[in-house]
Amino acid sequence: MKNLIFIIFGILFLNSCIYDNEESLYGISDCDINYVSYEMDISPIISSHCTMCHGGSFPAAELALETYDQIYQSATDYDGIIDRISRSEGDPSMMPGSYRIPQCQIDKIVAWVEQGALNN
Ligand code: HEC
Repeated sequence: MKNLIFIIFGILFLNSCIYDNEESLYGISDCDINYVSYEMDISPIISSHCTMCHGGSFPAAELALETYDQIYQSATDYDGIIDRISRSEGDPSMMPGSYRIPQCQIDKIVAWVEQGALNN
């Protein structure tokens, strides 16, 4: 009986370490969008969520998102990256495929464009 109680508490304790997403783990205030770098922030976000489809020899929608120029062009296009990442959960045309990227990453991309979408 004692062991069972320990196991139950153990499971509860382990569960408390699992978070749904980055925001609930770090808190929204830790999302620093004052200075966003293409190299350090934007490029890693796009390559981890988008390039698997928008890259290679036959990029989806014939839209390659691999180089700065390609990402710049789509990010500053009215119907481009920002439009896609801002779509709500459940929208069948949402990028990528079926999930929304973490809010902080969306905020960073928006801030980067507002800051001039520099190759910094
Ligand atoms: C699972 C594959 C997949 C992933 C991952 C993916 N896309 Fe797409 N994307 C597509 C397909 C397929 C289309 C064309 C169909 C459509 O418009 O929904 C498309 C279309 C687009 C378009 C419109 C292009 C046009 O000319 O109309 C944009 C912009 C876009 N994606 C951006 C992104 C961004 C930004 C990401 C990463 C956050 C991303 N996609 C991730 C498959 C993907």
